[in-house]
Amino acid sequence: MTPPIIRALSELRDDVYAWKSAGESVAVVPTMGALHQGHLSLVRAAKEGCDRVIVTIFINPKQFNNPEDYENYPRTEEEDARKLAAFEVDAVYVPDGAQMYPDGFATTVSVAGITDGLCGAHRPGHFDGVATIVTKLFTQTMADRAYFGEKDYQQLQVVTRLAKDLDLPIEVVGCPTIREEDGLAMSSRNLHLSDRSRTYAPEFNAAMEEVAEGLRKGQAFDALKAAAIARIERAGFTEVEYLDLRAADTLEVLETPSRPARLLAAAWLAGVRLIDNIAVN
Ligand code: PAF
Repeated sequence: MTPPIIRALSELRDDVYAWKSAGESVAVVPTMGALHQGHLSLVRAAKEGCDRVIVTIFINPKQFNNPEDYENYPRTEEEDARKLAAFEVDAVYVPDGAQMYPDGFATTVSVAGITDGLCGAHRPGHFDGVATIVTKLFTQTMADRAYFGEKDYQQLQVVTRLAKDLDLPIEVVGCPTIREEDGLAMSSRNLHLSDRSRTYAPEFNAAMEEVAEGLRKGQAFDALKAAAIARIERAGFTEVEYLDLRAADTLEVLETPSRPARLLAAAWLAGVRLIDNIAVN
């Protein structure tokens, strides 16, 4: 059975109040739709972790630094609802723009520090948009737990930070990246890759794995990074925006994986921006 689609906050709140007064725990899985196996793994984790599960679908204009990217973002609501049917989620919350940003909306949630580099440096305003909408989704759903993919690793850290800083009564749960068989991290943006680009895309993750392997063997990061960028560009990527080694928790720049670390990268392939990250411990 397709899950109930809720568009009004008042209706969502009625459900959540009823669940909570029955002593049930509530999970939220925030998404922008175009659901793939990565999202569905979050739904699975949410089902295991809580009594009730809300999936939200809202393509948030405030987090797109490029209007064309916003226009072209895949919109697949009916298909998404069909995919969610198999999981028996309790509600799919699909607010419209006026529900999320009514006239006069004037508040921005901005997380400092961890938003400075990586995607934050290349997508001005992106994390303010994410932090603002996620804060609203947390307070609107009143969920006890929220599930996010490690695929957007910097986003996961930003959201964890804001929940802590603002004393929001919600636990942020990070879940592993889900990959295609050839290693490409699942992403709604993969839908924009042509068949030809799709065959080159796995080189991105393969090159990152090579860096991680070299780091585990004690090789110098700079040389590994240069070789990886050359490999990614040889595969047809037009630009590697960044390929950084960072502390896994604070995202501070590291020269060596002297503490739990993460290798994070973003690169453009035929007009599509791909991001990925892997743990280096
Ligand atoms: O990861 C996403 O899909 C979005 O950034 C999120 C968390 C749903 C906020 O719009």
